[in-house]
Amino acid sequence: MMEKFVIKGGTTLSGRVNVSGSKNSSLPIMAATLLTKETCVIRRVPDVSDTNYMIQILQNLGAEVERASGTVIVRCEKVSDTAPYELVRKMRASICVMGPLMARLGHTVVSLPGGCVIGDRPVDLHLRGMEALGAVVKVEKGNMHISAPNGLHGTTIDMMGKHGTTVLGTDNVMMAAALAEGTTIIENAAGEPEVEDLADFLNKMGAKITGAGTNTITVEGVKELGGVEHTVIPDRIEAGTFLVAGAIAGNGVTLRRVRKDHLKSVIQVLEASGYHLTSTGSDLTIKSNGSATACDILTEPYPGFPTDMQAQFCALFSTTPGSQSLVTEQIFPQRFMHIAELKRMGADIDLVDDTARIRGVEQLSAAPVMASDLRASAALVLAALRAEGETEINRVYHIDRGYEHIDEKLMDLGADIRRLPA
Ligand code: EPZ
Repeated sequence: MMEKFVIKGGTTLSGRVNVSGSKNSSLPIMAATLLTKETCVIRRVPDVSDTNYMIQILQNLGAEVERASGTVIVRCEKVSDTAPYELVRKMRASICVMGPLMARLGHTVVSLPGGCVIGDRPVDLHLRGMEALGAVVKVEKGNMHISAPNGLHGTTIDMMGKHGTTVLGTDNVMMAAALAEGTTIIENAAGEPEVEDLADFLNKMGAKITGAGTNTITVEGVKELGGVEHTVIPDRIEAGTFLVAGAIAGNGVTLRRVRKDHLKSVIQVLEASGYHLTSTGSDLTIKSNGSATACDILTEPYPGFPTDMQAQFCALFSTTPGSQSLVTEQIFPQRFMHIAELKRMGADIDLVDDTARIRGVEQLSAAPVMASDLRASAALVLAALRAEGETEINRVYHIDRGYEHIDEKLMDLGADIRRLPA
């Protein structure tokens, strides 16, 4: 069923909100269960449609999966080697079954994912990694046929791409190398916390991985991997999104169960923009001190400012009166679907190539807008919290892909938000 959000702007948010488990950690970790016949238990998997979708992919590949509240239990006694287009086209992250299937079976057929609204998203680096480990790749009728007739062998692989490092590419190579013969060194590996979480999961399965979370990862291949229990890390992008909600419309919003060390660049930009953040334990509170400004942002691989927070800050800076800022997107230079929609709400933004020049306005006004991708949609929700009148956001299934019960969480903080049939 198609649904929409109707948000009446102007209420003040305050109170506490629990941060969910990380979507982008859960997806590759769930795929990693394909590496063993034994039972894997994963806790704090967020109830979002992308994780539900990953469960369907695992089941399609032969896994038995149970899910009860946030716990997902997977057992892959037997696995098939093919991830067809019907599966891969719906969620690009399904590409992360490639590494585990290569490690477990030595061959796989994975459909090429194709483009998506945030731009061209090639997979050359994933394939560079598989080839370096000894695999042969053939592309036929839109499918990648990958096989390693002589097994996978450890080697040194440089994963640097045109737009920097690759998160899921690093994950795929790490998972394939976990069961390869000999030692693999991944240079220019992605250092995102989600890569580190996957490495922790793999090490608990019996893998020998060091350096995850830095740009050089060493994987010493082992003969087999076993069952595991693991709790995924808190979602730093969901946390960042609620921090912006607190900045844009709040008067003391506290996030619970946050990893502050994963949010340094986001916190730094908020502080530079005049917001006041305090923390105790794993709680983090944001308050406005009444003199907000905006600053320039450049998206970068971790620990730089995340591309997955760019849209939300465009919403914040659009509603910061009297300010001017430049927001440059270096990871996905075409990831600006939210700009046209924000302009429908009265934002003053010029887009030149990969940079948005934003002039904050006194007041946004409600308009019917369209969600396009996950983070762009989150930006529209944030802008609506500050707009005058009732904003209708259509196609909220994009938001439900990655935010657990965002409407309920915002309602608990005092937002006037309703989910209605479209
Ligand atoms: C992950 O995607 C995230 N997805 C994305 O989050 C996130 O935006 C992205 O990392 C960057 O942080 C998941 O973790 C499930 P990349 P991923 O490979 O791994 C280029 C969200 O909103 N590239 O690190 O697919 C690529 O085009 C999603 O939750 C190649 O050129 O992204 C981009 O410019 C959206 N060749 C850059 O690298 C390749 O083979 C970084 O992409 C692979 C990537």
